[in-house]
Amino acid sequence: MTQWWQQAVVYQIYPRSFQDSNGDGIGDLPGIISRLDYLQDLGVDALWLSPVYRSPGVDNGYDISDYEAIDPQFGTMADMRRLIQAAKARHIKIVMDLVVNHTSDQHPWFQAAARSRADPHRDWYIWRDPVDGHEPNDLRSTFSGSAWAWSAATGQYYLHLFGRQQPDLNWANPVLRQAIYRMMNFWLDEGIGGFRLDVIDLIGKDPDAGITANGPHLHDYLREMNAATFGRFPVMTVGETWGATPAIAQQFSDPAHHELSMVFQFEAMQLDQVPGQSKWVTRPLDHQALRDVLCKWQTELDYHHGWNALFWNNHDLPRIVSRWGDDGRYRVRSAKMLAILLHLLRGTPYIYQGEELGMTNAPIERIEQVQDIESRNAYAEQVAAGVAPATMLAAINRMGRDNARTPMQWTAGPQAGFTAGTPWLPVNANHRQINAAAAQADQDSVLATYRQLVALRHTHPLVVWGEFAPLTTVPGVMAYTRTYQGETWLIVANLTGTAQSFTSPAHLDAVIISNMTAPTTLSSLQLAPYQAFVAKVTGERDLNTHRRES
Ligand code: GLC
Ligand code: CA
Repeated sequence: MTQWWQQAVVYQIYPRSFQDSNGDGIGDLPGIISRLDYLQDLGVDALWLSPVYRSPGVDNGYDISDYEAIDPQFGTMADMRRLIQAAKARHIKIVMDLVVNHTSDQHPWFQAAARSRADPHRDWYIWRDPVDGHEPNDLRSTFSGSAWAWSAATGQYYLHLFGRQQPDLNWANPVLRQAIYRMMNFWLDEGIGGFRLDVIDLIGKDPDAGITANGPHLHDYLREMNAATFGRFPVMTVGETWGATPAIAQQFSDPAHHELSMVFQFEAMQLDQVPGQSKWVTRPLDHQALRDVLCKWQTELDYHHGWNALFWNNHDLPRIVSRWGDDGRYRVRSAKMLAILLHLLRGTPYIYQGEELGMTNAPIERIEQVQDIESRNAYAEQVAAGVAPATMLAAINRMGRDNARTPMQWTAGPQAGFTAGTPWLPVNANHRQINAAAAQADQDSVLATYRQLVALRHTHPLVVWGEFAPLTTVPGVMAYTRTYQGETWLIVANLTGTAQSFTSPAHLDAVIISNMTAPTTLSSLQLAPYQAFVAKVTGERDLNTHRRES
């Protein structure tokens, strides 16, 4: 049975940075409503909103203090209902971010749990006695330091895999699980289109054994959740799973398992990080490795019994055009190449706000300019440990999360049209050139390419369902075919900033999309830096002999 989300393109909104409607410098729900025409024009089917629930904002909403209320800085529940309805009128669904690995330390559940060991909520979180006067073990927080924080009132440590203001929930407690499912049903009954499940592969953890991701009961919990909540609705679910292999992704997404629609896996997105080191220690991208990992996820996951999410960006990752493209001379061309390469793959593509404009990273010069808790904590920890401040600032400029969080660039005007006030994070100065208004007026913009790619997926079943096959190429080039009902498309992308050669065995029928004047013959070809194109081809038999073993 086919599902709507297999044919969909999802757009991620980081509400804080999308559109401010009241001049307080923070994006909000009325702001999103005012931009629905833009999103409809782009053609997307669903909007994933990063969290808008009530929150102290220590991790910009990923620390929730009330799951069933909208934070006043984003608007009201009435605004949320208006957004759901206004989006629906445009055939767009709203996907909520579900953060249930942890809550805020300001959540009434945690407040009660921390007050007394006898409180019924105590066991909803994870408490341990000190061992020899300190932390029970050496588990580390993703946001630096120990994952255990001391709670003096009751003389125990609690677990927090992220900030100390984000205590982990104890999924082993069945009463807690039911409370979460009730809350999820509250949102499903509001008519949402699904959930993005934040760090969901951590909920089955066994902290005493040092196991965080992919713990022993993870899949039991997800099956239980599915049956108790979204399994009864025609919605999509996408789990954030940093450590998924194709086999694990299959387990999550095989419809017969009744877990999730698909997962975000990060194998490709970690290729420029030095294995075994923190995310701040990077190395140049190996293009051949990128190609191989993308191909691996196309061939090792069985798409007839599972599904994949496709993305370059989100609110935690640096901007892709700055990271693996060229945000200078070849900005437009390389942004289009990355878009074409990704959107022709099998799976559900996600576009992160501003990616469709080719928005770039936003370098800073001083740590005081950084808002993100992860970058700030890492800077403090590493500098205290002797790392040169300049080294950490360079790492933050490469990998820091604020790069993706600067305000959406709507116009060339003041504050890029994002706010009438002072934005919570400065607007990138390049909004004078890079902005939605300019892109809409330019037929050759990155935006125009994204619009075409979304339309191709909606009008050509081949893009959704076609079988994938990789072709042999030189290391800097990725080429593959998609074949459906006797028709074959060839996708070729030069991943590098230098010319590369490409030899195609097939005959060109028609170019479907490209980022430069498309080639007219497909025999032996010199690809320009970052050149990419998609062409319908004939000569299938020839093509087969050139397919790589996978
Ligand atoms: C996920 C979110 C990230 C957040 C973390 C803790 O990775 O995407 O933004 O900081 O979980 O909730
Ligand atoms: Ca606002």
